[in-house]
Amino acid sequence: MSTTPVKVAVTGAAGQIGYSLLFRIASGSLFGPDTPVELRLLEITPALKALEGVVMELDDCAFPTLSSVEIGDDPEQVFDGVNHALLVGARPRGPGMERGDLLEANGGIFAPQGKALNKVAADDVRVTVTGNPANTNALIAMSNAPDIPAERFAALTRLDHNRAISQLSSKLSVPVTEIRKMTIWGNHSATQYPDLFHAEVGGRNAAEAVGDQQWLEETFIPTVAKRGAAIIEARGASSAASAASATVDHVRDWAQGTPDGDWVSMSVCSDGSYGVPEGLISSFPVTVSDGAWSIVQGLEIDDFSRGRIDASVAELEEERTAVTGLGLLG
Ligand code: NAD
Ligand code: LMR
Repeated sequence: MSTTPVKVAVTGAAGQIGYSLLFRIASGSLFGPDTPVELRLLEITPALKALEGVVMELDDCAFPTLSSVEIGDDPEQVFDGVNHALLVGARPRGPGMERGDLLEANGGIFAPQGKALNKVAADDVRVTVTGNPANTNALIAMSNAPDIPAERFAALTRLDHNRAISQLSSKLSVPVTEIRKMTIWGNHSATQYPDLFHAEVGGRNAAEAVGDQQWLEETFIPTVAKRGAAIIEARGASSAASAASATVDHVRDWAQGTPDGDWVSMSVCSDGSYGVPEGLISSFPVTVSDGAWSIVQGLEIDDFSRGRIDASVAELEEERTAVTGLGLLG
């Protein structure tokens, strides 16, 4: 076991996602069995007592990879020296709401957290935003942290990516391990575009393997894009264990790299690729090597995909305008 622990901050640690996520991180799911982890857990003051209970449970697991846990309600203390910051803490939506409806309630959390990270995080910090609306919250945090390179901020669209793989796997009765090169484009919202035209099943083009444009348009895309709402409707609460699992997949691949011959979906700061305006945090197909992501280049985008990508990107631009109006961008 290496001796220097990786410092991982998790916000909203006493919440539902936190209750799954912390145990996965502590048991070595991000960096493997030989890398100790120090957990830094941020909560609002009224939730600290509940968080103390969660820490007792972490202690009781006696995880060999968990070197220590610190909790607090002050972002500057909790984020001090962190290598990864997982920004989960935010209000979830309820039935009948869209994630964008949370902009005003949640956006205000991410400006001070961005400022705190800018001041005290480690030089190599990587920031993953799960709290909704994740893309625009990541934009807010990034714009309030001018000394942290923009490419160190990302928002979670891995849950949508995993949902798309699962739906395709059921449709074609193939194991998920046969599916590669899935892409979610745009926003983590109902406008997102899960793309089968560049995905592969057993080496074959996924859209061709499905061979059913009607299923693709009327079943696959809406099922993936509205899965969060379907879970809220069924469970009475938003997805938590699957969101935690996707957050683990995202951070692990960012830290350890993506497998050869495959890519993942991450919402990252656009450099203008695929016509997405520079500076928006939008979902792309990315590969990761040595802790740095690159947007997969050279994919042909037909008119159908272009229209879908443009619609989701237009929503991201509207959200950016809204948070600019709220004075949340640094
Ligand atoms: P939850 O209400 O169970 O927990 C949220 C926690 O955040 C609470 O404990 C709350 O006290 C804490 N919190 C609030 N403000 C905070 C602040 N300023 N600093 C630190 N902590 C703070 O919610 P949840 O189910 O864990 O979901 C959390 C967020 O994740 C929601 O916004 C939800 O919509 C989002 N989410 C995103 C995805 C995704 O794929 N991107 C998936 C599922 C859920
Ligand atoms: C999800 O996709 O499950 C989350 O973003 C929660 C939600 O509000 O849908």
